[in-house]
Amino acid sequence: MVLALLILWGTAVVLHADLLPDKKFLLLPPVNFTIKVTGLAQVLLSWSPNPHQEQWNVNIEYRVKINVPQEEEYETRKTESKYVSPLHQGFSASVQSILPRDGSFLTSSSSSWVSAELQAPPGSPGTSIVNLTCTTNTAIDNYTHLRLYQVSLRCTWLAGKDAPEDTQYFLYYRYGSQTEECQAYSKDALNRNTACWFPRTFIKSKGHEWLVVHINGSSKHAAIQPYDQLFVPYTIDQANPPMNVTAELEGTRLYIHWEKPVSPFPTQCFDYEVKIYNAMNGYFQVEKVSTNKFISTIDDVSNYSIQVKAAVNFGCRENGLWSEWSQPIYVGKDEQKHLAEWLLIVLTAAICFLLLILSFACRMCHLWTKLFPPVPEPKNNLKDLFVTTNYEKTGSGETETEVISYVDEPGLEVLENSVF
Ligand SMILES: *[C@@H]1O[C@H](CO)[C@@H](O)[C@H](O)[C@H]1NC(C)=O
Ligand SMILES: *[C@@H]1O[C@H](CO)[C@@H](O)[C@H](O)[C@H]1NC(C)=O
Ligand SMILES: *[C@@H]1O[C@H](CO)[C@@H](O)[C@H](O)[C@H]1NC(C)=O
Ligand SMILES: *[C@@H]1O[C@H](CO)[C@@H](O)[C@H](O)[C@H]1NC(C)=O
Ligand SMILES: *[C@@H]1O[C@H](CO)[C@@H](O)[C@H](O)[C@H]1NC(C)=O
Ligand SMILES: *[C@@H]1O[C@H](CO)[C@@H](O)[C@H](O)[C@H]1NC(C)=O
Repeated sequence: MVLALLILWGTAVVLHADLLPDKKFLLLPPVNFTIKVTGLAQVLLSWSPNPHQEQWNVNIEYRVKINVPQEEEYETRKTESKYVSPLHQGFSASVQSILPRDGSFLTSSSSSWVSAELQAPPGSPGTSIVNLTCTTNTAIDNYTHLRLYQVSLRCTWLAGKDAPEDTQYFLYYRYGSQTEECQAYSKDALNRNTACWFPRTFIKSKGHEWLVVHINGSSKHAAIQPYDQLFVPYTIDQANPPMNVTAELEGTRLYIHWEKPVSPFPTQCFDYEVKIYNAMNGYFQVEKVSTNKFISTIDDVSNYSIQVKAAVNFGCRENGLWSEWSQPIYVGKDEQKHLAEWLLIVLTAAICFLLLILSFACRMCHLWTKLFPPVPEPKNNLKDLFVTTNYEKTGSGETETEVISYVDEPGLEVLENSVF
């Protein structure tokens, strides 16, 4: 079987060898290679097959090599290629003719390279913007009655450290074939634009195209270098906070529930984080959940604040950014009510204690009067008592010890009386 396959393969190689060029055959490079800017941070590379190329049965293909700003190599059968890249540092690429790498050729064959380049746009060093950050957010479009989703874009940046004071910056974005200029800038202390807000854009929240941001500028004193940056939209897409967060307390069980954020993604596409903050002791509990509810056991004498945030999970696309926390909602006892309750308890305890002391004091007084008034004549002593008791004793011979114990243990009576 293996032998048969080997023989077959051998025949195939021999057949192809008949089609292969002889040693003198030369693969010629393509001609008229040009690079044309077709949009923000987008170029079209195009070339033509060499008219002097000797023809034979195999189609020639091309290898494209990007040299600046970032090296990359790829192959194509076409004679043009669209490429997206920042252009503020210039752009340079090369192309060569190759024989298709199709396994039946034992050696690869290629022509020499032809190159072309775009110069970096003019500008003084240090004048271009720095620290560009952009985020997108999806909202329901209020301008139509269709309740379509609308993606907004917000970008911030800083003026270049060597940009003249009169520099003004302008931001443009491109998504697919659509390009828009910013209409709503925020400014720094020198009145230079340093942030932009697009309430609506052509960006699709589930799309996969590059988002290109281009910021150029002008000044009377210097040429301002432009700046390009590419964004993968999902990496800068910030989810909305979950909606309609509710919390219910049943005894010590805390039931928290919410609804998915405004988003074109369905319910199962979200992860959430629930933050339960105990206002009494300042303790945070943060839990990650992938459902719309969370149940926790809490100590019901405190006031809790509850917030939830959301992010699209990995099951639906690569993770984006977490939303802001939802507005806090509160459950549990009001701190002031709580304080009042404590005050009430303390007050009750104090009153009880006071009453106790008072009654104790009364008992003491009572005892005092009980202990001493029965002895109106101090001369009367135990001996008289003995006389009396002895007199009583005449009734029964066994009461003697009882009588003595009564005399000896007056403390017992005090104790018994003081018991409430
Ligand atoms: C290359 O460009 C030149 C000038 O634009 C043109 O005359 C020529 O026909 C082109 N060659 C090919 C093969 O397209
Ligand atoms: C701007 O970015 C640079 C480097 O990327 C960083 O060192 C610097 O702290 C950033 N400046 C501000 C104000 O964020
Ligand atoms: C639509 O209206 C809601 C409230 O009615 C508001 O919060 C939201 O920001 C609006 N969205 C847009 C895109 O204007
Ligand atoms: C900035 O770029 C836009 C878009 O390419 C262009 O229309 C505009 O003329 C440029 N402005 C300056 C000052 O370079
Ligand atoms: C919030 O939830 C309550 C009860 O679960 C429901 O009646 C109400 O319609 C919800 N509100 C919104 C804006 O979804
Ligand atoms: C809990 O605390 C918050 C803020 O400290 C307060 O607004 C709220 O009224 C308190 N009580 C309850 C029962 O939510």
